[in-house]
Amino acid sequence: MKFKILHIGVTMLMASNIAYAESPDNKTNDWLLGAKTDTERFELLQKYLRGFDQPMWEVGERFRAVHEALIRNNYELAAYHWDKIRVTIQNGYLKRPARQANSDTIFLNATWGEVKEAFGTKDAEKAWAGFEKAKNACMACHAAESMHYMNNQALFDLSSPKQ
Ligand code: HEC
Repeated sequence: MKFKILHIGVTMLMASNIAYAESPDNKTNDWLLGAKTDTERFELLQKYLRGFDQPMWEVGERFRAVHEALIRNNYELAAYHWDKIRVTIQNGYLKRPARQANSDTIFLNATWGEVKEAFGTKDAEKAWAGFEKAKNACMACHAAESMHYMNNQALFDLSSPKQ
């Protein structure tokens, strides 16, 4: 009798484990490992990794950091963030290929390199001119992508403190 109860107990435990593993809406922390198939896992990852907005958020923060670096005459730091901005935009259009054409034409193909060179001179005037060029390219892409309202924010009021 004791054995039978134990047996039922073990069977129930096993059944509940299976139910847990297969439950489509299991509410454990294993949001990836708990998914039923790899396809479902990739879908979850794809959703989690978002679209173009999150890379742009990073680009915005780094652009603010570029501004701060230039104020401190830290041209290496400005160039560092400028490098990361390129990677971030490229990762952005990896997820949203429709954004590639304008990213490349307006921002990456010519402007990005010119700005990088300007920071490399470590000449304040040239570096700030580079910053203005960068800002204009950011804003031109927002306009080209029908996101005019994006340009009306404090980030794009930033410029050389001497102006
Ligand atoms: C493809 C051309 C393109 C370029 C180049 C570009 N942006 Fe954007 N940006 C967008 C688009 C499109 C959105 C809206 C994304 C969305 O709705 O998913 C956006 C959104 C943003 C946002 C709002 C992000 C958020 O959700 O908080 C910021 C900030 C921003 N961009 C800053 C910049 C800065 C700074 C630069 C230049 C260094 C830049 N962008 C260059 C297209 C661009």
